[in-house]
Amino acid sequence: SQNIYILGIESSCDDTAASVMLNGKILSNVVASQKIHIEYGGVVPELASRAHQQNIVPVVDQALKKANIDKSQLSAIAFTRGPGLMGSLLVGTSFAKSLAYGLGIPLIDVNHMSAHILAHFIDEEGFNKPPFPFLAMTISGGHTQIVKVNHYFDMEVIGETIDDAVGEAFDKSGKILGLGYPAGPEIDKRAQIGNPKAFKFTKPKVDGLNFSFSGLKTAILYFIQKETKENPNFIEDNLNDICASIQYTIIGILIDKLKIASKQTGIKHIAIGGGVSANSGIRKALKDGEAKFGWTTYVPKFEFTTDNAAMIAIVGYLKYLEGDFAEQNVIASARLKI
Ligand code: KG4
Ligand code: ZN
Repeated sequence: SQNIYILGIESSCDDTAASVMLNGKILSNVVASQKIHIEYGGVVPELASRAHQQNIVPVVDQALKKANIDKSQLSAIAFTRGPGLMGSLLVGTSFAKSLAYGLGIPLIDVNHMSAHILAHFIDEEGFNKPPFPFLAMTISGGHTQIVKVNHYFDMEVIGETIDDAVGEAFDKSGKILGLGYPAGPEIDKRAQIGNPKAFKFTKPKVDGLNFSFSGLKTAILYFIQKETKENPNFIEDNLNDICASIQYTIIGILIDKLKIASKQTGIKHIAIGGGVSANSGIRKALKDGEAKFGWTTYVPKFEFTTDNAAMIAIVGYLKYLEGDFAEQNVIASARLKI
């Protein structure tokens, strides 16, 4: 059979990434993460698009070099069309379009949210692929969604956040506690040595399968303000317990909704993706779900959970097999839906 080489390009937020894939297997997966945003405590769109412009050529060159192929061997170019920051998306989109045009090969547009889910279909030893239909929960600094996945290109969003993403809940809580950005990993580390029941935060009441995290952030802010009035060292004295309690609350919210989703759909295969799936608490809660509810859970390799181009390349490969190509006049779409 034919050898299909796909170049995937991702530039929707603050990571410039390129990956080369051969028949669904990764040959290279390069990410340039933008450090510039750390000092601002969040992604600054204007700075992100400028950094993408600087990074995209070297990142693609490196991906081709690591894959040990010449660009003339490429079968098609896949790129993130959306959703994401418009300025960032434009860099990847324009680059992909001109390269595909120059090489005279097909262009494939990819939905970033579908790609987080289809990352589970990258050929990797030791990782099982979820069978259809399955539930996918994508949790990151930008997204919080539960999706019913009937097939590669037949997906239905059945729940999503109505305000902040779950990663933002971690990061904004961390900010209140004086932790650096992004705070998720440090909260996780401290949570592992803290008492999750030390402090109680009420979970938001949101109908159905949707999420809300902005109320939790406010509750934490008021709680800290009140406690530090009595004890100015409250945060230092209780940091691990506070982190554990926040994490426990957030994970409770996620698992509650997954339980409802699983019950409603009758689906017990559950896959997660996005940067927050690195969290030790969510991983443990999913494992517990296997014993308690008969779930089978799927967590991809870490480098495929955060924003990356291998997930774009795998969607490119799957669409290539279907002959599903984009026109040269395709445009980036900041609010593209699944
Ligand atoms: O997928 P990602 O790298 O970028 C996007 O947001 O698209 O996700 C980053 C988010 C940040 O909010 C970060 O705090 C969170 O994932 N995060 C974690 C952990 N590792 C990363 N949150 C909780 N626990 C972690 N171990
Ligand atoms: Zn993402």
